[in-house]
Amino acid sequence: MEKTAKIIIDGKTYELPIILGSEGEKAIDIRTLRQKTGYITYDPGYGSTGSCKSSITYMDGEKGILRHRGIPIEKLAAHSTFVETSYLVINGQLPNEDELVNIRETLNDNSLVHEDMQIFFQSFPRNSHPMGILSAMVNTMRSFYPDLDTTEEEIDKTMIRLLSKVRTMAAMSYKISRGHKVVYPRSDYSYCANFLNMMFDNPVKPYKIDSELVRALNVFWILHADHEQNCSTSAVRVVGSGRVNVYATISAGIAALWGPLHGGANQSVIHMLMDIQKNDGDITTAIKKAKDKNDPFRLMGFGHRVYKTYDPRAKIMKKLCHKLLKRLKIDDPLLHLAMKLEKVALKDEYFVDHNLYPNVDFYSGIFLRTIGIPLNMFTVMFAIGRLPGWISQWKESMDDPHWRISRPRQIYSGETKRGYIPLSKR
Ligand code: ACO
Repeated sequence: MEKTAKIIIDGKTYELPIILGSEGEKAIDIRTLRQKTGYITYDPGYGSTGSCKSSITYMDGEKGILRHRGIPIEKLAAHSTFVETSYLVINGQLPNEDELVNIRETLNDNSLVHEDMQIFFQSFPRNSHPMGILSAMVNTMRSFYPDLDTTEEEIDKTMIRLLSKVRTMAAMSYKISRGHKVVYPRSDYSYCANFLNMMFDNPVKPYKIDSELVRALNVFWILHADHEQNCSTSAVRVVGSGRVNVYATISAGIAALWGPLHGGANQSVIHMLMDIQKNDGDITTAIKKAKDKNDPFRLMGFGHRVYKTYDPRAKIMKKLCHKLLKRLKIDDPLLHLAMKLEKVALKDEYFVDHNLYPNVDFYSGIFLRTIGIPLNMFTVMFAIGRLPGWISQWKESMDDPHWRISRPRQIYSGETKRGYIPLSKR
């Protein structure tokens, strides 16, 4: 028999269906609540609200579990590539050899950006934030590639186009911001090698591909591939629910990711560590400020809505940082500071009581610094990694039989009806 939940409102009992997820998560289906009872629910920030059913990513915040299409993030980080993981996240299963060859070729075939788009890039003021530029440019793609269609084939082409061109556009914006010559993608390079080459190759010093750096970048992007209904992914689903084109939808996701409480945290962590460094490495004051309710300062890279234990991605990222710094023989004082800060925070009563642990962004900034990515490009790096997630969540929402335009209710708390006072009498 189907399980139901009973709720009593104003002395009357109502039965609502219970939904069970494939990993046993329990939910009450309240779709008929308002119609049956006249009541709505109140849940700012949606901490207790399931906005959709999804078969892409599973997270258990208490146990620190993250799986894409059932495969643990640790396995993907150890064995997969970003292109393969993107295929998995979008299509639901790992590609076979032919499919992998095909997707690599199609990504290469779609890697060029319309030359006229460079004119847009050139027109942004020099110190514009690359996240603002990227969001605008992805929205602009609708004008340059208008042949969107609803056929499966055309949707697939658009998705590949996004994956390939966003990477090219990100590198292009960096080159233009420095006043350097744009480097074009090469068909003989893999997805990640191509990105590094487009970022760092220049006419006076050709870039040498370092396979370990390429591998490290693969892992970094795999760790960001999807994270279920976070702020930017929910933005993608909400904007997409109005059935706007996919470019505008992804552009909204990029804008949402920019915020310092979300993807922008990777940049904020480095700013915070630099500030502490300037302040003679004074960790105690930083921790004190983070705990002070009257101080807006928060320990950046700490805390998460879902993880109430160590973020599994942060564990991998921390190891990756150590490995890479050792390999490149770099002694980064910010890594030492981050580790010291982590150690102190993890023992502090406030952080223990609030279940505040490092999240993926705590160490990712140090990783990005190590591979030479400029600070203002950090969140762009996150955005490239999150693209397969946004694309697959958008695709899933388009195919959802329970799809409805996103339109939450509210509890009105303003003035009740009153008259209009003419200006002369106010
Ligand atoms: N430093 C100090 N205190 C914190 C922190 C932090 N980083 N994070 C949460 N808290 C405290 C809050 O003050 C609050 O305390 P209270 O209950 O005593 O009032 C409690 O922990 C719960 O915090 P909320 O803001 O309600 O938690 P929420 O789930 O809404 O926020 C968030 C999660 C935004 C990630 C938050 O932890 C934060 O601001 N962290 C710093 C920014 C950051 O690292 N963001 C990246 C997240 S990962 C990602 O998006 C990729």
